[in-house]
Amino acid sequence: MRTSEKPSTSKPAGQIGVLPKQRSTAWWLETLRKREARMGDEYLRRDVKLTFESAEEREACIRFFNAAYRAEESGLAQAHALAGRVEEWDPDLAECLRLYGNEEGWHRSLLTEFLGELGGDIRPMSGLTQTMYEKYGEAKDMATIVLTNLMFETIGATTYRMALRNVRAPLARQMLTILTRDEAFHVPLNVHFLRAVLARTDATRAGGLLHRAKLQAIYNAVFVGLLLSAHRSRKAAKAFDRISFVDLSRAYVENLARLFVHEPDLRFEPPRALLAIFGLRRAGLVAAGGFSPTSGDAAELAADREHVAVTAL
Ligand SMILES: [Fe+2]
Ligand SMILES: [Fe+2]
Repeated sequence: MRTSEKPSTSKPAGQIGVLPKQRSTAWWLETLRKREARMGDEYLRRDVKLTFESAEEREACIRFFNAAYRAEESGLAQAHALAGRVEEWDPDLAECLRLYGNEEGWHRSLLTEFLGELGGDIRPMSGLTQTMYEKYGEAKDMATIVLTNLMFETIGATTYRMALRNVRAPLARQMLTILTRDEAFHVPLNVHFLRAVLARTDATRAGGLLHRAKLQAIYNAVFVGLLLSAHRSRKAAKAFDRISFVDLSRAYVENLARLFVHEPDLRFEPPRALLAIFGLRRAGLVAAGGFSPTSGDAAELAADREHVAVTAL
């Protein structure tokens, strides 16, 4: 698709071809404010007991949701830090970042409560996860921060959705449903943040070919890092989510590669060699069409918490 093409305004019903529709900062702000007003209406169910078939499954569940907790914590911190920097040139965008960070903060508090129900603790990070979050925490370039966060959101949404197919415990399903639904909204929201930040950077001396080359290199490096994390997470969490490495890694590759194939103005290219290893081609991802998870339509589908059917995301 070219950016000059007229976007579709029809809503998707399952897997249909939908051209990405971009939404203004004003639309995102209004939607985030509506979501904020209803955030306190939702609680974890306390009337159901969490039971597991084995101690191994329970331990894997604790590890799975510890990883989720760290993702929320990092998303919250970076969103609020960015809001402070964006304030001077776009107060509305800064408010969007603040409200988005608050949603991650709400997820973090739900996860704290959920882990408490499990009798699990919040554990310190280690290994690759720790390295990735440390590097991310040290990043200063706004586009780098938003790009990396968008990729984290994408694999989060992917993993939660896949886990939801296999997990039966009602309380764990409720937690996964909330996360799946909201991260599906956060993916297109972060595409909006990235587009706005890139427009700002490109208009200054910080922009330019070198900056773009650096961002592409970061996209490739985080892509590989997340694939390695998929491998590592299988040891930790497979007994709970029952997702095989083959299925999870392929879903990561497909969804991370699809992030930008319908967003040509952002000028990111998925690493073709990596796609080839998984038997995928960029042209195939474009031609496959389907519903774009980054689009304004995806945001609309996931925006209203009370009316979202997670299976439809
Ligand atoms: Fe979240
Ligand atoms: Fe999120």
